[in-house]
Amino acid sequence: QKTQKAEEMRVLVTGGAGYIGSHVIYALQQTRRYKVISADNYHNSFPGSLTRVAQIAQDTLPENPSEADKESTEIDVFQCDLTNSEQIKGIFERYGKGGIWGVVHIAAYKAVGESVEIPLTYYANNVAATVSLLQTMSDFDCTRIVYSSSATVYGTPPVIPIPETTRLKADSPYGKTKVMSEMVIDDLCHAEPNRWRAISLRYFNPAGAHPSGLIGEDPRGRPGNLLPLLAHMAIGRVDAATLQVFGNDYPTPDGTCVRDYLHVLDLASGHLLALDALAPESAIFDNCPDDARYKAYNLGKGKGMSVLQIVEAMRKATGFDFKYEVIGRRRGDVPDLTADPALAERELGFKAPQPLEVMCRDLWNWQSMNPQGYTQQ
Ligand code: WQD
Repeated sequence: QKTQKAEEMRVLVTGGAGYIGSHVIYALQQTRRYKVISADNYHNSFPGSLTRVAQIAQDTLPENPSEADKESTEIDVFQCDLTNSEQIKGIFERYGKGGIWGVVHIAAYKAVGESVEIPLTYYANNVAATVSLLQTMSDFDCTRIVYSSSATVYGTPPVIPIPETTRLKADSPYGKTKVMSEMVIDDLCHAEPNRWRAISLRYFNPAGAHPSGLIGEDPRGRPGNLLPLLAHMAIGRVDAATLQVFGNDYPTPDGTCVRDYLHVLDLASGHLLALDALAPESAIFDNCPDDARYKAYNLGKGKGMSVLQIVEAMRKATGFDFKYEVIGRRRGDVPDLTADPALAERELGFKAPQPLEVMCRDLWNWQSMNPQGYTQQ
């Protein structure tokens, strides 16, 4: 059990208002061990999500909440663009040297197709901003980071399920920004092994929402990802009544792409385990080569589901009769991204037990309670 007060364990979550960020902040607050700071530019998120997260924290307070309990429901919120180093510095100055215990760096642009069209924007926002963040962290003696990476770093992997030892070979500028940021952090940990501790979490496909229905995935504009798109179709939010399936000629059981979907709350719990692993007493880095305290872990269930299986699961969860037409493949898609989750399970104690049915049920509950998402606020 941690002895330090929540006040001393401040964690900055970049992208804190986003789909993943809001669920990670929820999980951090549930531990009552961290004081949360959110930095987000709301490019693909809404500040209203943080109000909802605070409401969940309030709703889950015990009968006679202690000071620590009450503190844990507060979030220091900053609207900040990570490409603006002055804005990042302003946040760290607020808490002083050593004032922020660690950073969970989630903020990034993440649309594969878009990254092909505007690569410079992706390199500036995902790589240059990460370098700038790390420089500011170093200046303020904040040398612990959990980095949000992605299964796209594997490109088309040679083996399925995918172990972390797989060579990194991203195909899209987006995936390359994730590989490059991992390398930046890895090199920094090699350069200053006694200062830095870092973990990259390679997300597979997060899905679902907090069961309260108060927070969920709410991308600006038409969703690019399959599950939020299906939820929008079922709630009547997108014009197209027919799903376009991007190819059914892949070398997979039903010809459509296979992905490893995990519940967003299981993904969030993986971030807590990673933060624990960055604590001084953690032994996770004991046998690291040349003492660099850097590791990367897959966060997935280790269970692949095809596009058509997802459509069927959402048909069951929503009662909506989805129509689909198969069209050509989408650029950047790979046949199968299924994780080998053994390393995270063994070393972090990570588990992603929630089944697809629960992911679809929670996604539909969120969408039904918020047909227009957060834009109501
Ligand atoms: C899933 C499957 C599509 C929409 C992306 C990013 C990845 C990560 C998660 C950030 C694919 C198919 C989709 C549609 C379809 N983001 N599909 N019709 O591509 O696995 O991963 O989001 O880290 O980096 O690449 O997720 O939900 O977009 O697609 O047939 O209208 O559904 O081809 O096979 P993806 P997705």
